[in-house]
Amino acid sequence: MCGIVGYVGGRPCRDLLVAGLEKLEYRGYDSAGISLLADGRVETVRAVGNLANLRAAAGMDGGEDGGVAVAAPPATIGLAHTRWATHGRVTEENAHPHGDCSDAIHIVLNGIVENHSELRAELTEQGHSFSSETDAEIVAHLIERNYEGDLTEAVRASFNELRGHYAFAAMHAAHPDTLVAARQECPLVIGIGEDELFIASAIPAFLAQTRRALAIENGEVVTVTAAGATVTDAAGTPVEREVQDVSWDEEAAEKGGYETFMRKEIDEQPDAVAETIADRLPSRDRVDLSELEISPEVIAGVRRIVIVACGTSYHAGLVGRYAIEQWARVPVEMDIASEYRYRNPVVGSDDLVIGITQSGETADTLAAMRLAREQGATVLALTNIMGSQATRDADAVLYTRAGLEIGVAATKTFTAQVACMYLLGLWIAQQRGTLDDERLSELISELKALPHKIQETLDSVSEQVQAVATAEHEGRFFLYLGRNIGLPVCLEGALKMKEISYIPSDAYAAGEMKHGPIALLDESTPVVCVATDSPTLDKMLSNMAEVRARGADVISIVTAGSGRAAEDSDLMIEVSRTDWVLQPIVAILPLQLLAYDVARMRGLNVDQPRNLAKTVTVE
Ligand code: AGP
Repeated sequence: MCGIVGYVGGRPCRDLLVAGLEKLEYRGYDSAGISLLADGRVETVRAVGNLANLRAAAGMDGGEDGGVAVAAPPATIGLAHTRWATHGRVTEENAHPHGDCSDAIHIVLNGIVENHSELRAELTEQGHSFSSETDAEIVAHLIERNYEGDLTEAVRASFNELRGHYAFAAMHAAHPDTLVAARQECPLVIGIGEDELFIASAIPAFLAQTRRALAIENGEVVTVTAAGATVTDAAGTPVEREVQDVSWDEEAAEKGGYETFMRKEIDEQPDAVAETIADRLPSRDRVDLSELEISPEVIAGVRRIVIVACGTSYHAGLVGRYAIEQWARVPVEMDIASEYRYRNPVVGSDDLVIGITQSGETADTLAAMRLAREQGATVLALTNIMGSQATRDADAVLYTRAGLEIGVAATKTFTAQVACMYLLGLWIAQQRGTLDDERLSELISELKALPHKIQETLDSVSEQVQAVATAEHEGRFFLYLGRNIGLPVCLEGALKMKEISYIPSDAYAAGEMKHGPIALLDESTPVVCVATDSPTLDKMLSNMAEVRARGADVISIVTAGSGRAAEDSDLMIEVSRTDWVLQPIVAILPLQLLAYDVARMRGLNVDQPRNLAKTVTVE
């Protein structure tokens, strides 16, 4: 998740563009860059690290006046970008903007171009030379190849050759008054000012300059000049679109118009999962995790997989255990990192140890990874942060691509981690030949459909969840019950309720209930039952009947269209149907929302819950 900004108008725009990037730094901040067009020439400065480095490189920090935009008159058209690396290391060359062979065309892109390898091979064969490892640079060369004097048509033709999940903006030295941008899934919005226009990934980038915004939809191309914006579809047909007046204040702007970061991040889950799986599923019958650089021999020789993590990451690992054992038939051991590191575990060279940590800085998880590595195990880090300590304490790294998560309570990083667990389970099965081609393709297409299923579920459950929260937010205790792959969902749901609403909440394997916890039940206890379709649904339904027999309220999370749980539920919340092993990634959504709504109704600060920190670097 990167941030893009563009400007065309009458004002010198270097500072405007960098100020816009500062408002988008939550989207990514490992490197940044700016390109400005003046006197028919494009000048570019890029820097690794946060925006202070870009400011210094651009001579904006009052240091020696070496950087860009010293041209006279200063540039009034430009592009800027803040990066969250996905393709290509964090280097200056890989930072955006990227240019074509003649440096006349410059682009900035947010998202992922899935067919970048074949396009790069094609363009290289045709004589194009690339200066970065990124997928994004492709676009500059495609526009160069399609350019016949009309920048909009060159962008449209290039747009139609791309596959993936992206939004980009382009500038051409021969068109000092025009920017052209296009959108496929990733957000893109135009800021309409007085004789000036902005292009951005999100409204906060230009809100300090104008409150008039034009949202660009999927499959659209927009041509922007100081006089206005012209929207067309992929075929070139003009599209009418209404300009909106934005009423947000500064604080709301930081949150993209949401009341809290957590609520915004819950809604960012379709994007986070889409970006996380995108190019790792290059076709309908293959998983590509070649980025891991773990040899097939190592994977074939793995005797056991051990997953170590803390908190929400531990729960993602639990889902992963079910999936990996189910598909790849490798035994998976799961342990809380703070326990694993002190129990003198038996681990060795034919073990694959996976350390899951979104921050990449959690002390106990790092220590557990180091311990396993010292004992000769192959260690894989699953993290959301490029360059974090976990990436240095591992032999291989698999990145979730959820973008920066500011809310202390993890949401989008959880679903992105679960998506990575599914990718890993299928990839190991593919390497070890434990799934037949038909089943593998079936699961790959279900995985590819998950971003839409997540969006669908978020749209369909919020009212029902609000009703439960209204009824139960003064509760003294919540119990969560689940079986098989539903159990990690319960554990995560209970953790969310605990950490942001401060209501004591417990999650239990439903089969364990009659061995003790059933004593907790009375008619005031809300019992959330995860009863999505799975081989243990019948058992789960009888556990729900036991709970209802004690007068407790059963709120069940079920697979859409199943209806099997109706008679055993006081309230049923349906989530989108997918393969039973993939259900947790949608079943968790109403539980995130329930904890959120309950906490809000109790007037609590969900972004900064008491006693908690986003990253636990102490032991
Ligand atoms: C989850 O909402 C909490 N913030 C916490 O449990 C967290 O998952 C845990 O501290 C692990 O963090 P990590 O993924 O950064 O290692």
